[in-house]
Amino acid sequence: MTVTTSAPHPTVSTTADTERAVQLLDRSRALVRPALTEAVGRLHPWVAEMAAYSFGWCEAGGAPTAAAAGGKGLRQALAVLGAEAAGAPARAGVSAAVAVELVHTFSLLHDDIMDGDATRRGRPTVWKAYGTGPAVLAGDALFALAVETLASAPGSHVPAAVRHLATALNDLVSGQADDLLFESRPWTGPEAVGPDEYRAMAEHKTGALLGCAAALGAVLAGAPATTVTALDRAGRHLGLAFQVIDDLLGIWGDPAVTGKPVHADLRRRKKTFPVLAALDCPAAVRPLTRLLEGTEDLDDATARRAAALIEEAGGRSAALAEAHRHIAHVHACLDGLPSGPHALPTALRAADDLRALLAFLVRREM
Ligand code: IPE
Ligand code: IPE
Ligand code: MG
Ligand code: MG
Repeated sequence: MTVTTSAPHPTVSTTADTERAVQLLDRSRALVRPALTEAVGRLHPWVAEMAAYSFGWCEAGGAPTAAAAGGKGLRQALAVLGAEAAGAPARAGVSAAVAVELVHTFSLLHDDIMDGDATRRGRPTVWKAYGTGPAVLAGDALFALAVETLASAPGSHVPAAVRHLATALNDLVSGQADDLLFESRPWTGPEAVGPDEYRAMAEHKTGALLGCAAALGAVLAGAPATTVTALDRAGRHLGLAFQVIDDLLGIWGDPAVTGKPVHADLRRRKKTFPVLAALDCPAAVRPLTRLLEGTEDLDDATARRAAALIEEAGGRSAALAEAHRHIAHVHACLDGLPSGPHALPTALRAADDLRALLAFLVRREM
């Protein structure tokens, strides 16, 4: 990834930014939902039910949900805004939005199996609710449906869009591979995971799909390469910031708000950013590695002690600083989008909308 210089944009969200971000997410969800529902409806009924459960549209077993239980819908919003930022109408980003939301959901279904996590979006994970084999199958189906949706999109830029998605998928798999391999790497010494290795892993496992989401609507709309590259880089940096915040919420977040278990990463000895940053503090190395070493899952009391030590050693504040650094890079990438008197007003507003999302995402609690 090319590192861009930071721009003087604020990364602290205001109430107005938050309201605007929530409206943007809602607007994209409403725009994309009919096409997403239609796509899921083409799946085998059992697989479609698992997909609908994952999207929060139904309970396990198929009964309609009493309360909304889906995800934030970040990737579909990026696809719609990316199309608009390239000067195309929002509807030009819908096929891209459906594809990236399906890929995201596929990646979560498989990730929860890999990570052994039992809760997501406030409910049992798909593998817990339906079994591991069915959850693998549902993930595969969502992956295939994403490719089919994108390949069937109208216009002459579909091959380029499919190539862009395939590159992101390859990166996502590499990132997941490193994430899993890092679990058995030592905490200290020459074999320890360094911060740049972490960044490459996070850019791949999370940033690649966010970059693809931001760029894919623009690719479909036939935007120039400079626009596509600026959006992809913006999304990749956003992904890094987003993953570091996800790591932070995994230690200090409220499971009632995140919908995910707390301390699960610590229990599995995941090489998350706050832990790696805490190990930069010489006084924390011995006590922290003593708690984290071994191969069995950590018990609750040990995970709580480790969380306190990581915070004392500065791991939490270092993670926030890292996220803000990447958000500054996102702003710099967005500065590379067409602007000035020749840019369309909708494109200028979309770039502004993307900026409004950023501060909200870095301060999110869910
Ligand atoms: C979770 O992504 C996986 C990561 C890349 C950290 P989100 O936090 O966007 O998940 P949902 O879709 O809102 O549940
Ligand atoms: C995020 O993985 C990346 C993918 C799902 C591909 P994590 O394992 O860090 O995300 P959560 O915390 O389970 O959502
Ligand atoms: Mg996980
Ligand atoms: Mg994972």
